[in-house]
Amino acid sequence: MTAPELHATAKAMVAKGKGILAMDESNPTCGRRFKKLGIENTVENRRAWRELLLTTPRLAEHVSGAILYDETIRQSTADGTPFPQYMGKCGIIPGMKVDTGAKDLAGFPGEKVTEGLDGLRERLAEYIGMGARFAKWRAVITIGNGIPSKACIHANAHALARYAALCQEAGIVPIVEPEVLIDGDHTIDRCHEVTSETLNAVFAELKEQRVLMEGMVLKPSMVIAGLECPQQARVEEVAERTMECFVKHVPPQVAGIAFLSGGQSNERATAHLNAMNTRRQGLPWPLTFSYARALQQPAMETWLGKRENVAAAQKLLYHRARLNGAASMGQYRDAMERAM
Ligand code: 13P
Repeated sequence: MTAPELHATAKAMVAKGKGILAMDESNPTCGRRFKKLGIENTVENRRAWRELLLTTPRLAEHVSGAILYDETIRQSTADGTPFPQYMGKCGIIPGMKVDTGAKDLAGFPGEKVTEGLDGLRERLAEYIGMGARFAKWRAVITIGNGIPSKACIHANAHALARYAALCQEAGIVPIVEPEVLIDGDHTIDRCHEVTSETLNAVFAELKEQRVLMEGMVLKPSMVIAGLECPQQARVEEVAERTMECFVKHVPPQVAGIAFLSGGQSNERATAHLNAMNTRRQGLPWPLTFSYARALQQPAMETWLGKRENVAAAQKLLYHRARLNGAASMGQYRDAMERAM
């Protein structure tokens, strides 16, 4: 794929009114979400769940692409159509999580570094053969007492850039995801400071590794107070602080920004995205969603692993996709929450 082709794929991922469905939970993470609802963590249940998500009627109206996990890209719908082929037919671009997880960073208690560079060139070639056109790598930055360290930010930024360069070499669009975790009692100011430092480090490394800005999508967390912080910011404040931070630290050539939901409530994640898009005059990039929990949660709570609940669960997924699609254009209103 050439630079214009990478750019075209990246633009399609953040096309007007659409966002990305993250459904790339590793087996242990998927298992944790299932367990809370009493759903058994079996291969077949994971397949059935992913089939439910992908076969949701009219999903492609609001979802440009979906991120799969290694197990999922090899699975099929009940009638035997491989998931990536099924997505191709619906007009949903197949993407792949290609990191192998955040592991403890040696010498830095409480901090993580994401692994997965070894053999990545070969894995990317295999995924492309199966239909993947974009990839995702998630780095996590934890805010706490004396952390994050410069070493942690730097190690993660470097790995993100090496991953992104390998993706573009292979003709696949990298989603670069530096997540500043919402866990903790930190203030929005502290989140702003850490997000700024992280974005600076990430873009310095991306430039150093010659990553094409037009051929990548940034998947960041929003600038927001920690979940345990007594002073929770208003929706407008989250929107304004996030945009102000990104204008300073994200090059205008980046094809788009697709936020993660990161543990925000479903409604908040939608309202924050909407508030940014109602104030977005002059911003160089589309701002949209690449949510997992904030799209999937109501549907999973209704499905509960039962075939008879599939249609009702799909309606809930479609509902959240529609609301977030509206938020990506600044057209979401509270009342839409109740109009299914
Ligand atoms: P959440 O929206 O649940 O944060 O997940 C997004 C994601 O893909 C994390 O890597």
